[in-house]
Amino acid sequence: MSTEERDMKQGPVRVLFVCLGNICRSPLAEGVFRSQAKERGLEDLFHIDSAGTGAWHVGQAPDSRMRQIAMKHRVDLSGQRARQFKERDLVDFDYIFAMDDSNLRDILVHDREDQHQEGVVLFRKYDPDPDDYQVPDPYYGGDGGFDRVYSIVERTAQALIDHLSSVHNPDSNAPSQQ
Ligand code: 4NP
Repeated sequence: MSTEERDMKQGPVRVLFVCLGNICRSPLAEGVFRSQAKERGLEDLFHIDSAGTGAWHVGQAPDSRMRQIAMKHRVDLSGQRARQFKERDLVDFDYIFAMDDSNLRDILVHDREDQHQEGVVLFRKYDPDPDDYQVPDPYYGGDGGFDRVYSIVERTAQALIDHLSSVHNPDSNAPSQQ
């Protein structure tokens, strides 16, 4: 969605998190962002979803390793189900946050007339400590990868909520309590 279209629109700010399989990184980002928004009394400001550029895991719950780490932090991902990213998401969402460069490229292939580029960005653009701007794919690695992804997603989601609430709901933007 373009900035002008967003300005004309009422209702919640629509945010979509995208990775490859939609069973590890983006469902975690969806769940953590929702949980943090709720803690901050901002749940009505957002419509939150996630998707994968690949179709292998459509209909599946998030990976059990990711669910376990999230649960350790009192974030419940068990109700989420994987779906595949589709071209229509470019219109339906105000912001699309890609977990890595290859996800970003795979999303933008669908933007055939270059109308949605400004709303599609790397998630770690908002990370206060962004390193290489990639959320590393933990799927084929050890359990340490999942812990690392959690800490990246947790701090980036807080910073992203700070940013989006200051843009879309400036009156109630209290910085997060860490
Ligand atoms: P995600 O991780 O993109 O963070 O959900 C992956 C999950 C599954 C696969 C790759 C990455 N896979 O190849 O099946």
